[in-house]
Amino acid sequence: MSSNKEAFLRLKQLIAHHDDLYYKQANPEIDDQAYDRLKSELEALLEKHPEFKDAQTTLSLVGDDRIDGFQSFKHRLPMLSLDNTYNKDDFFTFAQRLETQFSKETFQLTIEPKIDGVAVSITYESGVMTRALTRGNGTEGDDITQNVRLIQDLPHTIPQSSGFMEIRGEIYMRHDEFERINAIRKENGQDTYKNPRNLAAGTIKLLDFEEAQKRSLNIVTYGIGAFEPSSLFSTQQSIQEKLKDWGLPVLEKFWIAKDAEEAWTAIETLDQMRNRFTYPTDGAVIKVNDFSQQRRLGSTAKAPRYAIAYKFEAEKAETRLKDIQLQIGRTGAITPVAILEPVQLAGTTVSRATLHNEDEIKRKDIRIGDTVVVQKAGEIIPQILSVNLDKRKADAQVFCFSDHLKSLNIEAQRDSDGATWRITAKDDPIRRQRALMHFASRPAMDIENLGTAVIEQLIQIFAIKDPSDLYSLSKNDFLKLEKFKEKSANNLYQSIQSSKSQDLWRLIHGIGIPNVGKQAAKDLESEFQSLDRLQSASYSELIQIDGIGATMAESIRTWFDDTDNQFMLTQFKEQGLNMEAIKIESEEAQTLANKTFVITGKFESMTRDQAGALIEQYGGKVSSSVSAKTDYLVAGESAGSKLDKAQKLGVTIISDQELTQLIGGVS
Ligand code: IVH
Repeated sequence: MSSNKEAFLRLKQLIAHHDDLYYKQANPEIDDQAYDRLKSELEALLEKHPEFKDAQTTLSLVGDDRIDGFQSFKHRLPMLSLDNTYNKDDFFTFAQRLETQFSKETFQLTIEPKIDGVAVSITYESGVMTRALTRGNGTEGDDITQNVRLIQDLPHTIPQSSGFMEIRGEIYMRHDEFERINAIRKENGQDTYKNPRNLAAGTIKLLDFEEAQKRSLNIVTYGIGAFEPSSLFSTQQSIQEKLKDWGLPVLEKFWIAKDAEEAWTAIETLDQMRNRFTYPTDGAVIKVNDFSQQRRLGSTAKAPRYAIAYKFEAEKAETRLKDIQLQIGRTGAITPVAILEPVQLAGTTVSRATLHNEDEIKRKDIRIGDTVVVQKAGEIIPQILSVNLDKRKADAQVFCFSDHLKSLNIEAQRDSDGATWRITAKDDPIRRQRALMHFASRPAMDIENLGTAVIEQLIQIFAIKDPSDLYSLSKNDFLKLEKFKEKSANNLYQSIQSSKSQDLWRLIHGIGIPNVGKQAAKDLESEFQSLDRLQSASYSELIQIDGIGATMAESIRTWFDDTDNQFMLTQFKEQGLNMEAIKIESEEAQTLANKTFVITGKFESMTRDQAGALIEQYGGKVSSSVSAKTDYLVAGESAGSKLDKAQKLGVTIISDQELTQLIGGVS
């Protein structure tokens, strides 16, 4: 294969990877600009080698957000993407092209905010909302009507309209709502979302309707797809006006310009004021106003020629780095955090920024007292871009990680495989506190009434070292805690005692083996069935398990080889904690033993989580991907690629009713 072809395939694969993260998982790793660079590289290669192009490549140029569990439908008019530009010259080249095309004809441009949300197309028929679709692959999108109906400011009927139309807009999440949900997720030990866009994308695709009802999304509409009668709109401006008349949420501001210069002024004004909008705005969209002119310019497979997006630079600000503090995680990992002189950035006051690790501080030569440039790009947590060396004072202090640790009396070591420092002393009070908080948290042992303040006191008063000490405390001990009376002491005692019978996976998760999260704990429980067996599993046994990689396997081995940890487990055993997978000793339960299931699609009788819990309860194993080892695929409505793969591999495909029958229930 030629090296060009190889580069092309690699690039295509890389873009597919980032597409998956952005569109399907709502969890991108790179920012829009870096992503656009990859795409331009791919397009440049294709221009030189048109022979590389195939149907799949066209798909990877537009992205695809469709996922399992949703039914997809065709858009009447495709939902295209926009070409992005990042500098003034590129914008003027676009405008120049229009001038050449229209030669002596006049034309107007509209300038609109580019909302950083999730694209949606909502169909209204005879004034009634009938369906909402995601962009999907541009031609066909996922049906998200159920969740879109929950958006408060979107009318379900438009009495004044009688025809057919696909209204196009952007779903977004307000900042306060983003913070509210992330705070809850953090408390529950779940991963938090990096920015409101990702959380909006994750929310609109929630299959769990109960959870979707607890979150609040907003929408702003700005365009139209197919519409009848065809006389309804003739300009972009008329769309904005009609949408507003009909009571739909619209753009707070939009401009009409008669030439490129005027348009540029509007773009700059928009950049200045965008922080005050309720929706996140990351650029301007410039469109030819007149529809007949738009039609003459036409579109490519990916984007219209009559419009372009101008992406604003991520906002930056200079401020003083007052201090560097260290944060400690549940496994003792130490992360440096920059403490800043508060500064306004992208609509919020920023007083902290992440510094990632020791190497990052060294690489950027960041010193305490420096004037630093902070940037808020796609991420909500700001980053330090660089130091303004012109403003460096003589007394700026180099931050020495190891000295700082020493001054705080923290014993730590750098991980052998990375740049992370980790506390080595097991009895470090902060580390103990983090470990106990994790043990008691909802996704682990779920011990009610055992919050941060109580844990802090338990460490102080009773010198609690590890979670096993919790079980030797008496009701009377709890009376020594601040504000604790007979009833509260009793409640706390009861919740600690009753946690002894929690499921084994909760204990595996709770003991805090680095890199082992909730899913891995469940996988380990279903593989080994008892803590004893897990404890004696070898590295090679561990890496053979689906979902357990080399890092995790090593981390599990290291954890169990540690004598303090072994001692804690002995304590747990003596205290009577459940260390076995709970088996249902019925004949039916044996039916699912050693059987691996994959669940896909949407069911009427249960959610996917419930189906998974049922399978696990009856001794079966749930895996996330279909392979030759899969025994059953439980497939519901709109099952996608997993169903195809299962059919190809000859895996038995069953419905939710058949699953209920398998475990001996009545469907
Ligand atoms: S017009 C054919 N206007 O940006 C052009 N799009 O990067 C259709 N977007 O898919 C889009 N604000 O999801 C248009 N004022 C605006 C927009 C906007 C945000 C999104 C939209 C589009 C994407 C393209």
